[in-house]
Amino acid sequence: MYTGLEDLDASTRMRGWNHDSASCNDALARGEMLHLLAETTNRCDFDCEYCYTVEATVAQDAGFHGQPLPGELVLHERLALIDAAAALGAKTYDIVGAGEPLIDPLCMPQVEHAVACGLQPVVFTNGSVLGSARRGRAVAERLWELGTTVVVKHHGPAEVHDRIVRRAGAADRRDRAIALLMEIGFNSTRPTRLGIDNIVYQATLPWIPDCLRWCRRNNVYLACSSFIPSGRTRKATETAASWEELEAVFAECRRIDETEFGLPHSARMPFVGFGRACTQYLGLYVTILGTAHGCVGKMESYGNVRDRALAEMWAERLPPLRSSFNGGCLPRRSFYAAADGMSNARLDKLF
Ligand SMILES: C[S@@+](CC[C@H](N)C(=O)[O-])C[C@H]1O[C@@H](n2cnc3c(N)ncnc32)[C@H](O)[C@@H]1O
Ligand code: SF4
Repeated sequence: MYTGLEDLDASTRMRGWNHDSASCNDALARGEMLHLLAETTNRCDFDCEYCYTVEATVAQDAGFHGQPLPGELVLHERLALIDAAAALGAKTYDIVGAGEPLIDPLCMPQVEHAVACGLQPVVFTNGSVLGSARRGRAVAERLWELGTTVVVKHHGPAEVHDRIVRRAGAADRRDRAIALLMEIGFNSTRPTRLGIDNIVYQATLPWIPDCLRWCRRNNVYLACSSFIPSGRTRKATETAASWEELEAVFAECRRIDETEFGLPHSARMPFVGFGRACTQYLGLYVTILGTAHGCVGKMESYGNVRDRALAEMWAERLPPLRSSFNGGCLPRRSFYAAADGMSNARLDKLF
C-alpha cells in the first residue's frame, strides 16, 4: 500500500511525476509499473563534481564522459525496452542519464517512440544544447511538440554553477535554455512541463531557499534533494550536507512555502518543497549498458535486459513495493544511515 504523504496536490509536481496516491495504489494492485527510467549515451560535455553516473571505481576520471561506453544499447534495444515497459503499464519515461541526453542523436527517436507508446517523456538535461544559439530553438520546439517535460540543471549563481559542473560558460547556456523553454510555454501548463534540478549539498546550500522561491513564482517544478548514493557520491563525504544542515534547509523551505506561498507541507525527504512524494521508485531503471535496478540509487539489481525479460524483473520487484513502499527514498536514507551516529529514530524525523 502506497502511503506517501500527499503534502501538496499532485498537480503541483511536474507532468510525468504527478501520480497521486490513488493512482499509485491502483497501479500496484493491478501489478503495473509507473516509471521506466532509461538512459542515452554515456557521452557528456560536462564533468559535474557530483555525477552519480561516473563509475565509482574511476570517480576522479575527468574524461569518463568523453566517449560512449563499450556495449551501449543500440536503438532497437532502447525502443524494445519502451515497448516492454508500455506492456507493463508504464506511464512515464524518464531519461535520467547516462551522459547528456540531448547530444545523443538517438535521444529524440527514443522520446518519439515513448510518446507513440502512450508514455509521458521527462528529459533531464544540463542545458548546453538548449542554450546553444545554433541548435537550441529547434530542439526545444520539437520537445514541446512531443509533450515532453524538460528538467534543466541549475545550481545558483553563475560562478557557483560553472565551478560545480566544471565548465566555463555553462550557466550562461543554462539561463538561455530556461528562458527559451519559458518563452515556448513549458511553464504555462498545469502540471508544469518545466523543472530545474538542484542538489542539496555543501556547495549549493545557501542558494536552495531562493531557488525554491523562484520556482514557486514561475510555475517551475524544483527537483531537489540530497546526493544519490552512487558513482562519485556513492559514499558519504564532507561535500555532502550534514544531517543538521539538511534538517535546517528543509525546515526553512517549509517556512517559506507556508508563509510566503500559502503551501503547508511536511518538509520530509526526499524532495525540498514536496515531501515524501517519490514515484520513480515504482518502476525500473535500466542503464545504457542494459543493467536493471530499482532506481538510480542502485540498491536493488535485477540483471541485464539482454539476458532477462523486463516483465520477469518487474514481477520480482513488485511484491516488496506492494508491502513497504511509502514515497520516501531508501537509498538516500541508507546514505545518511551510514554516517556517524545516525539512529533510526533520528532518520525517521526527516524520512
Ligand atoms: C545523471 S544526470 C543526466 C542528465 C544530464 N546530463 C543532467 O545532468 O541534467 C540526471 C540528473 O541527475 C542529477 N544528478 C547527477 N548526479 C547526482 C548526484 N550525485 N546526486 C543527486 N543528483 C544527481 C543531475 O543533476 C541531473 O538532474
Ligand atoms: S551534466 Fe549530467 S551526465 Fe554530465 S557530468 Fe553532469 S550530472 Fe553527469
